[in-house]
Amino acid sequence: GDPASLAAAMLAWYDRHRRVLPWRAEPGRGSDPYAVWLSEIMLQQTTVATVGPYFRDFLSRWPTVEDLAAAELDEVLHAWQGLGYYARARNLHACAKAVVERHGGRFPETEAGLLTLPGVGAYTAAAVAAIAFDRPATVLDGNIERVMARLFQVEVPLPDAKPILRAHAAALTPERRPGDYAQAVMDLGATVCTPRKPRCMLCPWVRACRAHQAGDAERLPLKRAK
Ligand code: ADE
Repeated sequence: GDPASLAAAMLAWYDRHRRVLPWRAEPGRGSDPYAVWLSEIMLQQTTVATVGPYFRDFLSRWPTVEDLAAAELDEVLHAWQGLGYYARARNLHACAKAVVERHGGRFPETEAGLLTLPGVGAYTAAAVAAIAFDRPATVLDGNIERVMARLFQVEVPLPDAKPILRAHAAALTPERRPGDYAQAVMDLGATVCTPRKPRCMLCPWVRACRAHQAGDAERLPLKRAK
C-alpha cells in the first residue's frame, strides 16, 4: 500500500465505524476549536469513558473560551475534580485566558501558534491543528504509535522508536481530512489494533501490515527494559 491508498482505506473505515463521541462534530460539519482543545486536554491520561460527562459539564457551564477565561480558577478546579492531574486544570484556565487576551478569543490555527499556549504540547498542538483546522499535522499518541509499530514492523523498542514512528506517521498523514484521519487511527488503536489480542481481521490495513504478515502483531511495539 502506498500512503495515499492507506489513508483512503483508513478514511473509508472511519466513515463506517467511527465512534460517536461527545466532542466529535457530525460528519461533514466543522468542529469548534474550543471543544476540540478542551476534549484533547481532558483525554490526556484519562479514558474516553471517564471524560464524556466532564466534557459535557464543562461545555454547558462554559460554552465558549471567553466564558472559561472569565471563570474563577477555584470553580474550574472544582469542576475538574475526579479527572486528576490538577496542573492540567490550572493550565486549562491559563490557556483560556491566553486565547482571549493574546488572540482575541480565537485559537491559533497552526501547530506553532498553538504550541505557545499554556499546557499545549506537541500532541495537543497537532491534534487541534488537524481536528479543528484541518491542517495536515502529524498526530502521534500511544495508540497511533502502536499502529505504526505494527504496520511497519518496527523492532526498535520504545521510547527509542519514537522518531521512527513519527516519520512513518508523517508519511501517511493525508492533505485531505487529516483530522478525521488522525481520529480514525486513534479509533483503530482503541478498538481493533489493541495492545492485547488485536482483531486484525477487522483492520482496513491488514493486507499491508508487516507485523500481521509476520504472524505476530501482538508482540509489537517493543518496550525497552526499565
Ligand atoms: N483520544 C484523544 N483524542 C481523541 C479523539 N479525538 N478521539 C478518540 N480518542 C481520542
